[in-house]
Amino acid sequence: MCGIIGILGKAPVAQRVLESLKRLEYRGYDSAGIASLEPNGALERRRASGKIINLEAVLASAPLQGHTGIGHTRWATHGAPTESNAHPHATEKVALVHNGIIENFRPLRARLMAEGHRFTSQTDTEVIAHLITSHILAGMDPIAASEAAIGELEGAFALACIFADAPDLMFGARRGSPLVIGIGDGEMFLGSDAIAVAPFTQTIIYLEEGDSAALTRAGARIKDDKGQPVTRPRAQVMGAAAAEKGNHRHFMQKEVYEQPETLARTVGRYVDGFSETVSIPDLGALDLAAIDQIFLVACGTASYAGRVAEYWLESLAKIPVECDIASEFRYRSPVLGPKSAAMFISQSGETADTLAALRYAKQAGLPTLSVLNVPQSTMWRETDCVLPTLAGPEIGVASTKAFTAQLTALAAFTIALAKARGTIDADAEHRLARALIEMPRLVAQALQCEPMAQQLGAEIAKSVGCLFLGRGVYFPLALEGALKLKEISYLHAEGYAAGELKHGPIALVDENMPVIVLAPKDPLFEKTMSNVEEVHARGGKIILISDPPGHGASEHLNVRRLIIPSCDGIVSPIVAAIPIQLIAYHTALSRGTDVDQPRNLAKSVTVE
Ligand code: G6P
Repeated sequence: MCGIIGILGKAPVAQRVLESLKRLEYRGYDSAGIASLEPNGALERRRASGKIINLEAVLASAPLQGHTGIGHTRWATHGAPTESNAHPHATEKVALVHNGIIENFRPLRARLMAEGHRFTSQTDTEVIAHLITSHILAGMDPIAASEAAIGELEGAFALACIFADAPDLMFGARRGSPLVIGIGDGEMFLGSDAIAVAPFTQTIIYLEEGDSAALTRAGARIKDDKGQPVTRPRAQVMGAAAAEKGNHRHFMQKEVYEQPETLARTVGRYVDGFSETVSIPDLGALDLAAIDQIFLVACGTASYAGRVAEYWLESLAKIPVECDIASEFRYRSPVLGPKSAAMFISQSGETADTLAALRYAKQAGLPTLSVLNVPQSTMWRETDCVLPTLAGPEIGVASTKAFTAQLTALAAFTIALAKARGTIDADAEHRLARALIEMPRLVAQALQCEPMAQQLGAEIAKSVGCLFLGRGVYFPLALEGALKLKEISYLHAEGYAAGELKHGPIALVDENMPVIVLAPKDPLFEKTMSNVEEVHARGGKIILISDPPGHGASEHLNVRRLIIPSCDGIVSPIVAAIPIQLIAYHTALSRGTDVDQPRNLAKSVTVE
């Protein structure tokens, strides 16, 4: 969602703030702004609704010269995405940017208005600027004023503030939303994630929950949630290149093509190629054999990864599984048993609902495991056991390489759990390990279906909607296919269990309705084919995604065909994810939508 960058620089910073904001575009936003402490001592702002290009135009006609500046991309929560609601918010004394939501902003605003403060936006954020100002006017220095102000805030925030009378100061604080410090050569940075500061420095400090920091060009003084000075470890971040498109047209396309590599990396984490065994490193005190039920909890694409894993876990590890959408989990009074474990799946590790569900499970005393992509994210720090997905930074809003990496980690977890529960023998483990080792190569082969996906995308783009059908593990994959298409092409799509077709959705089928059927040859193949016949009989335009045996067995049908390689059932949904990603991508290209930053969507959803 919102993105933050702050720079204490040696030269005018506006262009670099802008550069960083462009890197943060992937998070999703609908307005942007920048503030700088100008050479004349005044805090000045430039803001614009819509894309950063609008802000760039404003800056071109009214440039900023300050060496101290902050910038923000805003995803509207309180107040429409207008210029006046865009961050930074400011008074004559302070300018600040904020991620998160201040829950008690109404009483604070009323109090400050009664004291004579004038508000110019409908945001919750503006109250923080006035609160700090009121403390400065009462005689506090900017750091003490900021510390006092955050002490009065309820809710979640990451903050970066600059001050009119302190050109060598930037104040940052985090509670609920992440914030990192970047350490440069005589320069200092604040960012909402490592990607924001990656072009300027590789050395960062992740602030811990409740930390605040006073930055000068010489360094940072950090305090913990009790106000005690602390030292936080420095970390080295990946090169800036991770957030470049390379020679791809979109981040999404780049990320789709990275999958053979990201999956090989993720497999390498869990599978030993020599012994052909599977294990979960860093389980800590968790005893897999002692678990007798698993709750799988996530949002969006990650929740579909969980639903695929449900089939694996129940069939291979013979353990009862409940899959939940995170926003429902803690409100439906789930019955948690004494031997239940809760597993959370999240690319960002920051999704508000998934994080709240994790905290709920922890409070209920359940062991917690999390499949996460962003190292050091909030969930990473709070969960008992992390199963990393080594997909690298995912910039495209529509999840692709993180999804397949999640499936990979979940497949490995299934095998490890099945081993611990004695439901598979060593031979089965070796066979499954080999399947995982071979999978990245098969994913590379599946990518060769792109020309066909392009042709199909152009046709689907002209239709009024699209159905995705599948059975077993291909049912959640059908749901993911429909979500991917909706997200980036804005075309209505639905995913169904193939057997549900005649209970309603078949009414939608006519010669204008593309029906994408995910059916590699498996024990349910014939049953899915019966459903395909039902669509065929009603003139539906069938697109069959299958392997060579599946296409061979359905030769008599007049359908469009997309071929993926044959593979073991445990990796087949990972390989079959490739064509649905490419179909969504090419449908979106044909419809001319914004593939990497679809309207209204955010990459990391940090509000409930
Ligand atoms: C947003 C994104 C989705 C993602 C979901 C969960 O809605 O647009 O692509 O699947 O959040 O995100 P997470 O970071 O928890 O995986």
